[in-house]
Amino acid sequence: MVVTSDTSAPLVVVVGATGVQGGSVISNLVQSDKPYRLRGVTRDVSKPAAQKLKDLGVEVVSANIVVGNESAVQEAFKGAHVVFGVTKFFEHKDSFREIAEGKLMVDAAKAVGAKLFIFSGLPAVTKLSGGKFSHVVHFDSKAEVVEYARSQLPTVDVEAGYYMTNLASSMLGPEKQPDGTYRWTTQWDPAAKFPLIDTEADYGLFVRYAIESPEYSTGGGTIFSYAEHASHAHIASTLEKVRGVSMNIAALDPAAYRASLEQAGLPATAIEILGDLLYVTEYGYWFGQELEEQQKRVRAGLARQPRTFEEFLRANPDFFAA
Ligand SMILES: *[C@@H]1O[C@H](CO)[C@@H](O)[C@H](O)[C@H]1NC(C)=O
Repeated sequence: MVVTSDTSAPLVVVVGATGVQGGSVISNLVQSDKPYRLRGVTRDVSKPAAQKLKDLGVEVVSANIVVGNESAVQEAFKGAHVVFGVTKFFEHKDSFREIAEGKLMVDAAKAVGAKLFIFSGLPAVTKLSGGKFSHVVHFDSKAEVVEYARSQLPTVDVEAGYYMTNLASSMLGPEKQPDGTYRWTTQWDPAAKFPLIDTEADYGLFVRYAIESPEYSTGGGTIFSYAEHASHAHIASTLEKVRGVSMNIAALDPAAYRASLEQAGLPATAIEILGDLLYVTEYGYWFGQELEEQQKRVRAGLARQPRTFEEFLRANPDFFAA
């Protein structure tokens, strides 16, 4: 580990340092053979996760990244060579707020003279689907932040694939039945592939690559972070193989799926978002942008390879423990 206080080493400021993505960025930079000064930004510096960062040699500062708190955010970013920014839509579920807070980070990064802004973006689903799927607002909002950032300073968009841990969610993953088998109700074609990522372990691997590779370190471009493209059928058979469970996939048509969400008592906005994630079946999670050629170059430049779903399961015996 080469976390240093030597001022000749670049300062990387990481927003959401105690969260999944920010935490992954820090742990992967700590593993780098290059020296960095690391500063984690978090709202609450007293929580145990913040103390853990301090133990790693990370400077931890507090800043609430909200509109109206621009000067505190600039203070937290001061001296940064690289700023990693991420927003937390599911804390407030307000895409306008997400855009405003993302832009606030961009402005602060620019104001302190950062050389590189890295943002956790996602595809502009409304635009890329020609308006057909217009409710995935927390993807569109992140794309808007990236577009703005690119107009302001050198920016790399590091997009996270579909979290492997989503499978533990009752809305998105298989549910245990009274007889011990699992039933997985989805609206997706079981053969449609999702780019899966073990976010905590591997998202930061791709951000580290953005910082250290000649191709991205001066800004520009999008990096797609995932280990493998896996269908629900593949995920189910991997769970069967590794955990010894029995899985049944029930693929519903969109109307029946929607009705199941309503029955579960989900709020209308959540139903709209989940319903429109059906775009993945039609267009692919990234609309085919994660070109094989580019991904080959990225993989060749990564410090290590990301974990496949099977490797993730073997490394986390408690996840989906039968
Ligand atoms: C701005 O951030 C500072 C530092 O974390 C915090 O003390 C303050 O309460 C924040 N202000 C607002 C308006 O959130």
